[in-house]
Amino acid sequence: MTINTKRGRQFDSSMQFFISKGWIEVLRIELLKGDITDLDIDVIVNAANSKLAGGGGVDGAIHRAGGPAIMAECDTIRSERGYLATGDAVITTGGLLKARYVIHTVGPIYSERNHSENLKLTDCYTNSLKLAQSYGLESIAFPNISTGAYGFPPEDAAILTLESVSDFLNSNPNHKFERILFISFDSKNHSIYQDLIKKYF
Ligand code: APR
Repeated sequence: MTINTKRGRQFDSSMQFFISKGWIEVLRIELLKGDITDLDIDVIVNAANSKLAGGGGVDGAIHRAGGPAIMAECDTIRSERGYLATGDAVITTGGLLKARYVIHTVGPIYSERNHSENLKLTDCYTNSLKLAQSYGLESIAFPNISTGAYGFPPEDAAILTLESVSDFLNSNPNHKFERILFISFDSKNHSIYQDLIKKYF
């Protein structure tokens, strides 16, 4: 299935899963390949840094597309609470994006020796879902946090990601999410998700 965006780009939306309760379809899990800044959705998640200072990768793309309002809100958050710890998540509006909100979370910088630090990747997903839920948001898109500049092996990251989202949903059976998207920018990550998804949903 292909989705056309308002800017004329195309997503290869090759997989969708529907999770239902009885007869009612309650949640759609989607795997997409494309640019997260094109999504028309309640909230997109940013792979930010602890200073909320912007950067390259998905962070740079979100600030470029969303305009200066997002950074202004990040500045306020930083001045109120200081730098974020790994796994923390905070929320701003979406500025010029079609997404209403952006959740900024800080993934771990991958370390071959510090496994407990690596495991904080799960906090990024759990804290983002909790925050989105507290805002009453029903659709959320995640990029492949930590798999770019922060060097996390993509397959390990995907396993932790799918495990933490699945655990969250199982332990919050009354959640209000209707759509959860995992969006990959590159074919390698996308095919890893395609291979793994059925184990978790
Ligand atoms: N849409 C979706 N995914 C994207 C996009 C985009 N527009 N741009 C990049 N990606 C993907 C990358 O291909 C990678 O798989 O996001 C994933 C995460 O890569 P990074 O953005 O480098 O994030 P991360 O590894 O978590 O490193 C965070 O990078 O720029 C900085 O400020 C950021 O310091 C922080 C660090």
